[in-house]
Amino acid sequence: MPTPEHVILRELIAHEPGWVSGSSLAAKLGVSRVAIWQHMEKMRAAGFGFEAQRARGYRLVRRPPALHTALIETQLKVRPKHFSLLVLDEIDSTNDEAARQLAAGRPAPFAVLARRQTRGRGRFGRTWHSEANGNLYASFAFRPRVEPGRMQTFTLWMGVNLCELLANFAHVAPGLKWPNDILFNGRKAGGMLTEARVDADQIRDLVFGLGLNVNSSATDWPGELARRAVSLAEVTGEPLDLNRLAAALVGRVLLAYETFATGEHVARFADLWHRYDLLRGKSVALLEGGRRHHGVVMGVDDQGALLLRDAGHTHRFRAGEVTLEKPGA
Ligand code: BTN
Repeated sequence: MPTPEHVILRELIAHEPGWVSGSSLAAKLGVSRVAIWQHMEKMRAAGFGFEAQRARGYRLVRRPPALHTALIETQLKVRPKHFSLLVLDEIDSTNDEAARQLAAGRPAPFAVLARRQTRGRGRFGRTWHSEANGNLYASFAFRPRVEPGRMQTFTLWMGVNLCELLANFAHVAPGLKWPNDILFNGRKAGGMLTEARVDADQIRDLVFGLGLNVNSSATDWPGELARRAVSLAEVTGEPLDLNRLAAALVGRVLLAYETFATGEHVARFADLWHRYDLLRGKSVALLEGGRRHHGVVMGVDDQGALLLRDAGHTHRFRAGEVTLEKPGA
């Protein structure tokens, strides 16, 4: 249900950088011009900047740098039935909040975004550093009714979709490190964490979490992380519009989910993975359940398992952590 804020933003964005008269906004909303002015004041307090001229009306001159629900929703290009978006100031973990909302019966799909996480989690129970520094912490919840075996390909499929999105949105060249890292020049900009609850042989519900470094800078990260992490803004050399990116992300993830659920992704997955795969042909070590394996990466199979070639044999791994071996090591 669009609020007055949605309607005002939709009109201003549609006419950007032009003007929209106060009377046309008032007519659209069926309220007085004074009421419009009051809405604009409220939006100013949330970080929007408007220029106002008696003869011409209003125009949008500044958008808030932090996540803003109505601004994201106004910029959504696709919006499936029942989809809802939750934007929180602070939460323990958006993945945990999405799981709680699913358990409470919230209709899926929905997305939970937070400006800051107090207990952001990564793979292997690691901490995902989640300050309110202009980055994205997002989780998407689905009730897919597919067998659990398809989860691995789900994360990889989301990964290639995110790379395509970032390449188009920010004109950058991301790469994927199996199974869930998005990298630029060897530094990590994003991580994915897919978690599911399984009933007998079907997935009951699934949460896809993404942490993406967007506008933070190296000085925002503690010690060692500052050397391994990178943000999109550092790659492009300029800050990105976080709300526009969030809207594009929501649209892309929902679309990618649809193609996955219908199985249409199968025909495109291998090609796309190949395009963004950073490991193919590289000598790596893979740590899996306390054992270290070595080999050359041959790609992934159609179940998303990593293929490692060692001494003439190809071995497949469904899980594990990969590190690149130094040439000649
Ligand atoms: C990894 O690289 O190990 C995965 C990191 C996933 C982090 C995201 S941030 C949003 C969502 N909420 C969490 O607690 N984790 C994921």
